[in-house]
Amino acid sequence: MLPTIAREDDAVVMIDQRKLPAREVYVRCKTAPEVARAIKTMVIRGAPAIGVAAAMGVALGMRKSQARGTQKFAAEFYKVCELMASTRPTAVNLFWAIERMKRSFGGAAEAGESVDQIKDRLDREAQAIHDEDLASCRAMGAFGAEVVPDNARILTHCNAGALATAGYGTALGVIRGAVEAGKRVTVVAGETRPFLQGARLTAWELVRDGIETTVITDSMAGAIMRQGTIDLVVVGADRIAANGDTANKIGTYTVAVLAREHNIPFYVAAPLSTIDLHTPDGQHIPIEERNAREVTHLAGSQLTPVGVGIRNPAFDVTPHHFIAGIITERGILRAPYTESLKRAFETEAVTTRT
Ligand code: MRU
Repeated sequence: MLPTIAREDDAVVMIDQRKLPAREVYVRCKTAPEVARAIKTMVIRGAPAIGVAAAMGVALGMRKSQARGTQKFAAEFYKVCELMASTRPTAVNLFWAIERMKRSFGGAAEAGESVDQIKDRLDREAQAIHDEDLASCRAMGAFGAEVVPDNARILTHCNAGALATAGYGTALGVIRGAVEAGKRVTVVAGETRPFLQGARLTAWELVRDGIETTVITDSMAGAIMRQGTIDLVVVGADRIAANGDTANKIGTYTVAVLAREHNIPFYVAAPLSTIDLHTPDGQHIPIEERNAREVTHLAGSQLTPVGVGIRNPAFDVTPHHFIAGIITERGILRAPYTESLKRAFETEAVTTRT
């Protein structure tokens, strides 16, 4: 299993995803601002993984706090939470994880715990977010395997793998689950311009696992589908609105439209922490616009003429009617999503979303 992120006593350690696959470098973030910077600059990325990173960053920041009294400690805590929340706007797992840390902090304050006890509690909560995410990915893998036919040729976009989660992955978890269930699968990974999560990260993970994988440029998806060589599409998600509209990496919507045209089932795999019932539909999902340099430059070389306009929205929204099912740790949710998504939380509310 790939070590995406781990907590050490005085640091949060993560593999630097900007350097893969050429180099396996681990980054040791020793302060909360260093963790926030790592999220912002994509050392770590992928919705569940940045949620875990933010939670660990908050716990690390508070572990290092010099505050003696609970009031000063609380003021620092909320500041660190704000810093984490300012890193990336689209993936709701980030805000979900921060909310969980706040609830945990609130519980400690109510119980009259000391600063040292609160520090321990925050460490435990961050680790629980990590461990639960890993368990959710494994559950998604088991449920998702059911929709994967034997000998399936699966197209995925971006990286929704072990690197994007606490481990195992969401969309790649489904692929791994199918393989563990004894099915033969081959994967087509869209390269995912401009950050190349598909070409660099998904391909790296799957090749390491010995799963036959072919990388295509994003613009090849339609032609490949037309040849009849794709049976299924599985992607991850950054935020799923209450009606099932799904924000995921830029280019996902194009893949969904093409899948519909070619009668290929299009599945989304995501944990409940990616579902945002407070956002009614895709139009209300904030879409991150990243630095133009990610588009204008490749490995330090400039591709475009100076003075040209550049757009770099990092995500798009796939309307719910393109989605055959949403694979979660609670099972596969189907349309009408307004009902099935709400129902999926009914038991969860008792455990982690109180
Ligand atoms: O910009 P990124 O690399 O953080 O975007 C990641 C994606 O869009 C993933 O598909 C999504 O977060 C799901 S990860 C399990």
